[in-house]
Amino acid sequence: MCGIVGYIGHREAYPIIIKGLQRLEYRGYDSAGIALYDGNAIKLSKTKGKVSDLKNKIENEISTDGTLGIGHTRWATHGVPNDVNSHPHYSNSGDLVIIHNGIIENYDSLKKELIKRGYTFHSDTDTEVLVNLIEEVQKNDNLKLGKAVQVALNQVVGAYAIAVFDKNKPNEIVVAKLGSPLAIGIGDDEFFIASDASPFIEYTKNAIYLEDEEMAIIRRGKKIKVRKIKNDVLVDPYVQELQLNLEQIEKGGYDHFMLKEIYEQPSAILDTFRGRLLSNEGMIKLAGVEDNMKKFLAADRIIIVACGTSWHAGLVAEYIFEDLARIPVEVEYASEFRYRNPVITEKDIVIAISQSGETADTLAAIKLAKSKGAFVFGVCNVVGSTIARETDAGAYTHAGPEIGVASTKAFTTQITVLTLMALRLARAKGTMSSSEFRHHLIELETIPGKVEEALKSDAYVKTVAEIYKDSKNCLYLGRGFNFPVALEGALKLKEISYIHAEGYPAAEMKHGPIALIDEHMPVIVIATKMGHYDKVVSNIQEIKARKGKIIGIVTKGDTSVKELADHVIEVPETLECLTPLLTTIPLQLLSYHIAVMLEKNVDQPRNLAKSVTVE
Ligand code: F6R
Repeated sequence: MCGIVGYIGHREAYPIIIKGLQRLEYRGYDSAGIALYDGNAIKLSKTKGKVSDLKNKIENEISTDGTLGIGHTRWATHGVPNDVNSHPHYSNSGDLVIIHNGIIENYDSLKKELIKRGYTFHSDTDTEVLVNLIEEVQKNDNLKLGKAVQVALNQVVGAYAIAVFDKNKPNEIVVAKLGSPLAIGIGDDEFFIASDASPFIEYTKNAIYLEDEEMAIIRRGKKIKVRKIKNDVLVDPYVQELQLNLEQIEKGGYDHFMLKEIYEQPSAILDTFRGRLLSNEGMIKLAGVEDNMKKFLAADRIIIVACGTSWHAGLVAEYIFEDLARIPVEVEYASEFRYRNPVITEKDIVIAISQSGETADTLAAIKLAKSKGAFVFGVCNVVGSTIARETDAGAYTHAGPEIGVASTKAFTTQITVLTLMALRLARAKGTMSSSEFRHHLIELETIPGKVEEALKSDAYVKTVAEIYKDSKNCLYLGRGFNFPVALEGALKLKEISYIHAEGYPAAEMKHGPIALIDEHMPVIVIATKMGHYDKVVSNIQEIKARKGKIIGIVTKGDTSVKELADHVIEVPETLECLTPLLTTIPLQLLSYHIAVMLEKNVDQPRNLAKSVTVE
C-alpha cells in the first residue's frame, strides 16, 4: 500500500513528484507529503487527505524549487491518518528525510532503544523509528548514508520500499526494497524512483526493478550502484524496457478509471487470448502450462490461493477445472491458508491468483506451498511483480494497468486465463473430445464481442441503479458457475457504494437469508438459461412470494424470469462455463452507477488500497 516517488536530476522535481503521486494514489490516499531540496535546505509539506489537498497546501506553504525530492501517498498502518503521521519523516537532527511503503514489525523495540539514547518521536509511525535508526547508525559509526541505511536495515524485521536523503549530501538518494515494490527509471543524467513505473513513463522507458533485499545509491550524474543489503555484494541490475504507455494510465475521456476498465474488457480479454487461443488450429498454447505439463498431469489436486476478487475468480475456476478437466480443486483464502498448517504435498499444484502480484497474504501462501514442495503457478496481471517472480511458472492476464481500486477487467481476464488452462488440461487429459474442445474454443473466441453486447445494457442498468441507490441492503444470488459471480457482485457494491450486500448460492437462501427479504430488499438473481435455470426460477418465486424486489440477469430472449422479476438485464447466450464472463458485466455497471449517484469516490473508495502489501 502507499505510493512512493522520488526524483534527482536536472529538472524541477516538484511537478514530476506531484504528478507521480497522483498516478500512484490508487495505492493509498489518506494522506500525502513531499520533501524537496532547493540547494540550501529541505522544504517539507504534508497533510491528511488526498494529493490534491497536498497540492493546495504546498502552493501556499513552500517554494517548490529544487531538482531533488521525494513524495509519498499513504494508506495508514501505524498511526491514524493525520498531518503528523504523514510522510516524509525527518530524523531528530532534521538532516535526514525518508518515505516508506511497508511495515517495520520490530519498530517498538527499536523505538524503546532509541528513546533510551535520547531520541524523541513526534508521530506514531514505524517510519519515524527507521529514519532515526539510520541517523543513530550514521552518527555512531560515522558512516556515509548508504552504509548507514544498510546497517540499519539489517536490524529491521518487516517490509519496506524506502527512499531517504541527507541534506548534507544533497546529490544522492538511497533506496532499498524488501517486500514492497520499487522501480528506478533511468533517464539522461536523471533518475526517477517510484512504486511502479507510471510516474515516469513519459520521461524514460528504461527501468530497474529492485529485487527484495537490494538497495541502490542513486547519485546525480553517476551510474547507479545496486547492492545486496545483507552481504554488501554489488549486483549488476537488469535494465528493463517498459511496455507501458501513457494512454493506458489515463482516463481517456471516461469519468472514472473504473468505468474505463469496465469498457476495456472486450479488448482486455482479446489481449489475454493473443497467441494462446488458436481456434483455427484447434489449439491452446500457454507456455507456463506446456513446459510443466507432466507436473499438471501428475497432480493429485489443484489448490487455488488468492484474496478478494481474485479469490472469486479462483472459485469460478474451481467449477471450470472440475467440470472440464476433472481435476479436484480447493480454493483457499490466502490469509487463512498461510496460518493453518495445511496439508500440502509435492503432488499438489498451487495456483496463486493476483492482479497486483504484490498481495502480502498471497505471497506468504506461495512461500508456504513452495516450502512443502508444491509446484506453484502464478496468474498475475502486473508484469515482473513479486508474485510473478516468486512462482515456479505462470501466465499473465495481460489486462493492462488496472487503476480503479475495485477490480473489474482483472477479474474477467483472470477467469479467461484459468479457462484456457482448464481447456488445455482437459485436452491433454482426454476428459474432453476433440469436437467438444473445438466447440469451446470457437465459443470462447466470441466472448469479447458478447461482452461488448453486454455493455450495451449500460443505460438500462443506470435506470435500475436510480431506483435502488438508496437501499440499505442488497442480496446477490447465483448458482454453479455463477455463484462466485454473485459474491463478486456483492463485493463490488459494498466496496464502492458502502451499501451492505451479501452474495449467496441461490439454493442456500432458504437456510437463512430468506428471513431478510421484504419489500425493501433488492435481490439480484443471476438466472441464465443453462445449468440450474428451473431451480433458480423457483428461488425467484420464493423471493416474489415475500415481496422482495427482483433484478434478474438473464439470457437474451428469456421469458420466464421476465414474468416474475421487477427488472431483467439481458446478456448474450454462451456456454454455461463461460457465462461468468458476461453476467459479471451488468453487476459491475450497477455498482458503478449506484456509487456515482451516491457521490462516492468510485476509484478510491474509503479505507481501501489497490495493492494490499500488509497482512
Ligand atoms: C476488490 C479488489 C480486492 C483484490 C484483493 C486481491 O475489487 O480489488 O478484493 O482483489 O485485494 O488483490 P490482488 O488480486 O492484487 O492480489
